[in-house]
Amino acid sequence: MPSALFSPLQLRSLTVPHRGWVSPMCQYSCHPETGEGVPNDWHLMHLGSFAAGGAGLIMSEAAAVNPAGRISPLDAGLYSDAQAEGWERIIRFVHQYGAVDCKIGAQLAHAGRKASTYWPFSGRSGSVPGSDGGWVTAGPTNQPFDGYSEPAAMSEAEIQGVVADFAAAASRAVAAGFDTVEIHGAHGYLLHQFQSPLINTRTDSWGGSEEKRNKLMLAVVDAVRAVIPDSMPLLLRISASDWAEGGVDVGISVRLARAAAERGVDLVDVSSGGAVAHQRIHAVPGYQAGFAEQVKREAGVPTGAVGLLTSATQAEDLVANGRADAVFMARAALRDPHWWLRAAYELGHDITWVPQYERAVPRHGF
Ligand SMILES: Cc1cc2nc3c(=O)[nH]c(=O)nc-3n(C[C@H](O)[C@H](O)[C@H](O)COP(=O)(O)O)c2cc1C
Repeated sequence: MPSALFSPLQLRSLTVPHRGWVSPMCQYSCHPETGEGVPNDWHLMHLGSFAAGGAGLIMSEAAAVNPAGRISPLDAGLYSDAQAEGWERIIRFVHQYGAVDCKIGAQLAHAGRKASTYWPFSGRSGSVPGSDGGWVTAGPTNQPFDGYSEPAAMSEAEIQGVVADFAAAASRAVAAGFDTVEIHGAHGYLLHQFQSPLINTRTDSWGGSEEKRNKLMLAVVDAVRAVIPDSMPLLLRISASDWAEGGVDVGISVRLARAAAERGVDLVDVSSGGAVAHQRIHAVPGYQAGFAEQVKREAGVPTGAVGLLTSATQAEDLVANGRADAVFMARAALRDPHWWLRAAYELGHDITWVPQYERAVPRHGF
């Protein structure tokens, strides 16, 4: 039986060689010496190793659409020409050296009230104060995320400005040579902050009903779709559940996915959580895959599954049984940047290896 995981996926004019993809992963490694938000040698090594390791598509880490949208001062961005040039080098590498005609996407993000925080290995936590390079954050209201500093409630003009920043970043992504763009609408960042009834208590046209809470997410979809070529697929990452009473649930997510697909989103990348500190997540292997399956079935849009998916058989099962169209992997990819070469072997699929590594092909078993 040919492997379903290792079968190509066509999204608009983009043929992704197979459905085993790298989930976006912030590296908090853009240092002032190499330029604010500019991806550098670390990012080249990090993303390049997945390309050599046989990934079908690599999603970049959350690239901020403006300086205030960075989760931490060391985040990557796509709001300057220097940042776009940093990405160009990585894109060239992935395209030239990928084992399997690897594709690469740009995840575009704004962290909203969860911006300006210390990065995980900084030895500190919470919001970065102005005295240490932090900034005043922005959100749907001035309610902070638990333990973080207070954001400023965004004005109409600031909201429209963010929509324009997403579009500008998408244009830069296209010019830099990315194969696709993903809008980060998940994990309690700005677009999800507007979407979640637990956070967005605005009473103007950007809040008050499900439709109004979804308005920013869909305005960004429209703005990005308008500037990327028709031939280029557009992905949207959502949190299908807030894992908290009164928050986003899978029913809301199905309706959002349907509206997004009508506006030209080609695949919904279904994650969950991140909106509120009191969330209660029951994280077991594949704990979010059921959401991807339900969104795919009920919204009729291709989906990507993500979350504690680590084995070749688990990933194969999801695609073969039509529960998801692609499988994103984060931590398993960090543990083994060549995960796809090994998974193909386990599934009996004859994958191309980079010639430099050919002597390691397990023709006679590992
Ligand atoms: C180091 C690290 C950085 C991450 N950064 C991002 C990010 O930039 N954007 C995003 O949408 N998710 C991010 N995530 C979440 C992952 O993409 C993924 O959804 C999550 O880790 C669950 O998948 P896994 O069980 O395969 O790790 C990050 C995860 C890790 C481990």
